[in-house]
Amino acid sequence: MVLCITGASGAIYGYRLLQVLVSMDFQMDVVVSSSGWIVLKHEMGLTKEKLLKEFPQVNLIPEKDISNSIASGSRLIQYNGVIVSPCSMSTLAHVANGINQNLIHRVCEVALKERVPLVMVIRETPYSLVHIENMLKVAHAGAIILPASPGFYNKPKSLQDLVDFVVGKVLDALRIEHNLYKRWKED
Ligand SMILES: Cc1cc2nc3c(=O)[nH]c(=O)nc-3n(C[C@H](O)[C@H](O)[C@H](O)COP(=O)(O)O)c2cc1C
Repeated sequence: MVLCITGASGAIYGYRLLQVLVSMDFQMDVVVSSSGWIVLKHEMGLTKEKLLKEFPQVNLIPEKDISNSIASGSRLIQYNGVIVSPCSMSTLAHVANGINQNLIHRVCEVALKERVPLVMVIRETPYSLVHIENMLKVAHAGAIILPASPGFYNKPKSLQDLVDFVVGKVLDALRIEHNLYKRWKED
């Protein structure tokens, strides 16, 4: 699985996904944009060193490493999916318009062309028409737009419940079994 963390608010959605997928024994390739690191530090106090200390098994790839194997369809086709969480409007715009300025943009482009499942956990509010048009473009191209907007029907009691709802929906989109949130009418 490839997990990309960009500079939208909600770094915890990337962190929690990493925690859950590592605990499920997924082999994780992780790319964090430079803005992603700024937000990880600001919102969670997480630096590269701390992240690697907590998840030593993760393959952390620099965003500038455009010749990395995951930039090639011949390799990405072997992956279960690509998740961008959180996904900024800037990364969404790059992907929607086929412009690659870092490895995250390229991995998303390759996922779309190879039909590797791509889930984009977008975060912004409100949306401009530009954002909405970019969502439409990537959705037409096959990406799953999964807004970081938790539901309240399962009566969340904590911040963790809210985060796990969104993380659970990401796993649902990739058909990965979990019990991170209570489904409708589940006892
Ligand atoms: C604390 C903080 C919060 C941000 N929150 C958002 C956000 O929720 N959504 C968004 O699209 N951009 C947000 N930004 C702006 C992005 O980080 C900025 O557009 C950046 O260029 C995105 O680059 P990236 O997509 O390569 O990570 C935020 C920036 C900071 C510093």
